[in-house]
Amino acid sequence: MDSYSIGYANIALVKYWGKKSKNPVLPFNPNLSLRLDNLYSKTKIEKSNSNEDEFYINDEKQNFEEVTKIISFIEKFVPKNREKIKIISYNAVPTAAGLSSSSSGTMALVLACNKYFNLNKTTEQLVQIAKEGSGSSCRSFYKMASWLEDGSVEEIKTNLNLAMLVLVVDENRKKISSRNAMELCVTTSTNFDYWVQKAKEDFVEMKNALAENNFSKIGKITESNALAMHSTTKFANPPFSFLTDDSYNAMEIVKKLRKNDYECYFTMDAGPNVKVLYLKENEENIYREIKKLWTKKIIMCTE
Ligand code: ADP
Ligand code: DP6
Repeated sequence: MDSYSIGYANIALVKYWGKKSKNPVLPFNPNLSLRLDNLYSKTKIEKSNSNEDEFYINDEKQNFEEVTKIISFIEKFVPKNREKIKIISYNAVPTAAGLSSSSSGTMALVLACNKYFNLNKTTEQLVQIAKEGSGSSCRSFYKMASWLEDGSVEEIKTNLNLAMLVLVVDENRKKISSRNAMELCVTTSTNFDYWVQKAKEDFVEMKNALAENNFSKIGKITESNALAMHSTTKFANPPFSFLTDDSYNAMEIVKKLRKNDYECYFTMDAGPNVKVLYLKENEENIYREIKKLWTKKIIMCTE
């Protein structure tokens, strides 16, 4: 029997970028995401054969820092008098490349703990546990979800069939984690307050656009929100950027497609890879046109 638990990646259309509180984890602004069912992590837990806790991703033993991070998280909600465990996880999403492995990994881990330790938690309880491990992961439990400043997570319904693909710029582990990067922006970016204000407005507008099934409006907010998030990195001390020349080339390709009436929009997270948002019914045409312009790898994210 396959005893793995599955967790999915999600990509925010209005980003979470900064913690208003670390304990509990609360975001500065409400944020909203789309789950990517093809990008997932699967995790199982076994009794450890050694006298220490172990953590493997894709058969690679994780270092002390990673094990400490994951164990201090799960110790917040599993029984204190437990035996040492071995956490075995596989990512069908590149790890730490800005494709949301932290959310798929954390969701899968929380579900695996629920199973292994017989916690019998409800989905709502697991959502709240997950956000303490990685903020964005609480949104992965729903196809579309919003995470609000008070910590609550709401399922968002839409009649639109939103879909995403990734123009892969670099699948390697980034130099600075999302967590450290957002912390640097919170504490040093001179335009951080502007970001929070804009993201709050974007969230309201995005909910309206979703209610109106207005894909053009959804796309425009998605792009401008991502660019605003990335601008906080340029005003940090020291300034930095997740985006490379290839990221900018990918954004230009998306704009070019749009000019030619293939409606799609870009968004980027804490990494150089560019995600393209479109309507599922246009997938074939968009994929065909984008293939002509983007010679590197493309990942299709939604069923
Ligand atoms: P990403 O852009 O991929 O989300 P982050 O820097 O936000 O990158 O998070 C990467 C971190 O997420 C990893 O260092 C690890 O701590 C955690 N992570 C990634 N995959 C898993 C997994 N399968 N199980 C548990 N944690 C994971
Ligand atoms: C850019 O959820 O990975 O992807 O809460 O510190 O684990 P921690 O951060 P994380 O940050 C995600 C940041 C983002 C935007 C988003 O997904 O909303």
